[in-house]
Amino acid sequence: MSIEFDRWQLPRMADLSGTRVLRRWSKRLAGPQLRRAQRELLYARPQRVAGPEGCYWYHTMDLPGIGTVWGEWDLRGRFDDYTGHVSMQGKRVLDVGTASGFLTFEAEKRGADVVSLDMDHARRWAYLPFKDNPAWTNPEGYARERQRWYRQMQCGYWLAHRRFRSRARVYYGDVYSVPVGLGMFDVVIVGALLEHLSDPVQALAALARRTAWTMVITNHVRQDAEPLAAFVGRADQPHQQTTWWSMSLPLYREVLGMLGFRIREMTEQWYPWLRDGPAAPPVPQLMHTIVADRPG
Ligand SMILES: C[S@@+](CC[C@H](N)C(=O)[O-])C[C@H]1O[C@@H](n2cnc3c(N)ncnc32)[C@H](O)[C@@H]1O
Repeated sequence: MSIEFDRWQLPRMADLSGTRVLRRWSKRLAGPQLRRAQRELLYARPQRVAGPEGCYWYHTMDLPGIGTVWGEWDLRGRFDDYTGHVSMQGKRVLDVGTASGFLTFEAEKRGADVVSLDMDHARRWAYLPFKDNPAWTNPEGYARERQRWYRQMQCGYWLAHRRFRSRARVYYGDVYSVPVGLGMFDVVIVGALLEHLSDPVQALAALARRTAWTMVITNHVRQDAEPLAAFVGRADQPHQQTTWWSMSLPLYREVLGMLGFRIREMTEQWYPWLRDGPAAPPVPQLMHTIVADRPG
């Protein structure tokens, strides 16, 4: 087996020694056993986190033994709405862009075997090209700074992982190139991610390759009869540098159709965004959930 590294992902010792171990195993293992062993090497080693201090939370969660940790989004009690009431029982699930992991842990509680996917470095985040923003003027320095924030979010994920006694595995990489070695997933959840990507169509294509049955996409869907992606960046709003597109349902229908999926339904719900912190009133956000299946 060869492990490929791109320019941002230096080989870690664990990967290198893993390759050696695998070479030894591959003489003794075959078929499914070998594939399982290869898959193990793709997963991140769980991080030990002592407590919530220094962690960043994207999701608000009630952690056993700790209590409520407040994040930007409070999806407590709303998992089934957010994921279109798709059954998780006994399913192999990929939670794409897991952030603090709320969707992973809730899917697990409903009987899923989950892999959480997130970026391997904050450099992966795509910023709108504002010429005076640090992401443009000093990309390396900005990426280092964002990486510190991203580590705090990973810290939150791993603390919650331990507190929920989660068995979820984590793959850190890039949504545009999800390795074949991760295998196929019955359900792939793509929550609040596509609008933050410069190329959401290619991301959907990469995820479709790993989806055996159902894709669940949750974000704001624009009301339009045409297959449109509206560009939402504005030259006079440099503070809004992370949201690129707002796409219409006909666009999803076309792209998912190309990829061999048929949209079963789209639902809409309001969710509380704790923009100004937990003490302030939440700002309700309208989100749509598209459930698409591969025709049986
Ligand atoms: C807005 S959060 C969504 C959190 C969660 N999915 C939800 O719906 O509540 C977006 C997540 O996507 C991840 N992300 C952004 N770009 C990525 C990329 N190129 N590859 C993998 N993950 C990425 C971010 O690190 C972040 O965790």
